[in-house]
Amino acid sequence: MAAPHHDTTPGTREDWWRDAAIYQVYPRSFADGDGDGTGDLAGVRAKLPYLAELGVDAVWFTPWYLSPLADGGYDVADYRTIDPAFGTLDEAEKLIAEARALGIRTIVDIVPNHVSDQHPWFRAALAAGPGSPERKLFHFRPGRGDHGELPPNDWPSQFAGPTWTRVEDGEWYLHLFTPQQPDLNWAHPVVREEHESVLRFWFERGVAGVRIDSAALPAKDPALPDFVEGRDPHPYVDRDELHEIYRSWRRVADAYGAVFVGEVWLPDSERFARYLRPDELHTAFNFTFLTCPWDPDRLRGAIDDTLAEHAPVGAPATWVLCNHDVTRTVTRYGRAETGFDFATKAFGTPTDLELGTRRARAAALLTLALPGSVYLYQGEELGLPEADIPRDRIQDPMHFRSGGTDPGRDGCRVPLPWNADAPYAGFGSGTEPWLPQPDGWSAYAADRQAADPASMLTLYRTALRLRRSEPGLGDGPLEWLPAPDGVLALRRAPGLVCVVNLARTPAALPDHETVLLTSGPLDTDGRLPTDTAAWLRG
Ligand code: NOJ
Repeated sequence: MAAPHHDTTPGTREDWWRDAAIYQVYPRSFADGDGDGTGDLAGVRAKLPYLAELGVDAVWFTPWYLSPLADGGYDVADYRTIDPAFGTLDEAEKLIAEARALGIRTIVDIVPNHVSDQHPWFRAALAAGPGSPERKLFHFRPGRGDHGELPPNDWPSQFAGPTWTRVEDGEWYLHLFTPQQPDLNWAHPVVREEHESVLRFWFERGVAGVRIDSAALPAKDPALPDFVEGRDPHPYVDRDELHEIYRSWRRVADAYGAVFVGEVWLPDSERFARYLRPDELHTAFNFTFLTCPWDPDRLRGAIDDTLAEHAPVGAPATWVLCNHDVTRTVTRYGRAETGFDFATKAFGTPTDLELGTRRARAAALLTLALPGSVYLYQGEELGLPEADIPRDRIQDPMHFRSGGTDPGRDGCRVPLPWNADAPYAGFGSGTEPWLPQPDGWSAYAADRQAADPASMLTLYRTALRLRRSEPGLGDGPLEWLPAPDGVLALRRAPGLVCVVNLARTPAALPDHETVLLTSGPLDTDGRLPTDTAAWLRG
């Protein structure tokens, strides 16, 4: 009999987030409902049946608020307004309700570290001048040097380029990202009050969760001292003050039964786990897994470390292979034996897409067999590769701030292909999309894949359906089984085993009754080929 947490009716459990499959929508590139070349909420609403059929439990929307889009919407000018390019608040409310009726919860993105330079607070701060209360909501400082011509400190930027910008009256303001994203001063009570009010605003509209952008960055050492390698505490990463802020957010979320997922990039697993204490964030993205190369020992190590770091705080792990900031999975796995490396994002890095796709299919079955929740980035279920964007069409500020050496993140943000025979692969109704789709994009179209039993889409649909119906999948224990070198074999429940072959030769499957699903065909002797995974019963 299915365990109670495996109620198969989508969307009915309170602890749904402990083993949810969450689909990330980058609204600008998902589906264009009004035909202007930019994705929008009308497009998402039209595709809700597709998401329901895919079998996801929730959708996380990257920012859909009013924004000049200096950093793809991570420069928010007003949290209570939907950007007109995407639609209206009324449409967002309808979307949230329609999704919920299909068993799909909505997660929105909150960006506490910074706002847009077009946010009314920042405009008021610029107008009010040095020493004003308006400036206290940000980090304005006089410069150093005889005439204040040098930035107030030497902090390195999260994107390449300077971290301080000087305004006309001579003061400088801090921005860990682009100059269009001034950092907020989290020591200020108004900053805290406003964010809690924004949380309530969205929870009241039926939102079930919030993804917290750059969650380890908002608190700053008020003295803004120079950066000294190894000095503890760090002046702006992972400061202790953050925990009190997130405890307070947790109280807000608990009143609505809503949940958090934090974007917490931290190398220290003990420090990472602090964010997941029972009165703080429910979950955080697992970047250890995302950045792990396609290597059996390292993958097993990443899985063990992840589970070990989550266990003491009782939080479920999350498993992520891709998002809107990293090179798409099939390209990454097709590029090098050593897998993830920011350096391999270089222009024109050779990639073997066939190899990458085979590995990505196996990785999908591995990921979906692990205990905890899973994030799936739009287009991952179609096996989309990273696209080469012509230089004159690149929009990502990361590219410009690197002086043109880093192609940036547009290659994983290309508008999705829906219909193989429609113009622009059916992204919209005929206007050229905001980012160009590469040649051959329609080969990946969802309609074509839906009809193909061997497609990536069919694999994801089948795996997600099994993940819902199999009591052993989702949250719960994991046990490693003995396996030949290079083969990972894990048991999730009596009778439910996942095997992944990363060795160079085919592997015999362990004893089993039924093969539930494989990521590719078995060989003629019934063995599991290299870079292939299987789910077995018995
Ligand atoms: C992380 C987001 O995922 C990324 O897209 C954005 O550029 C930065 N945070 C800044 O908000």
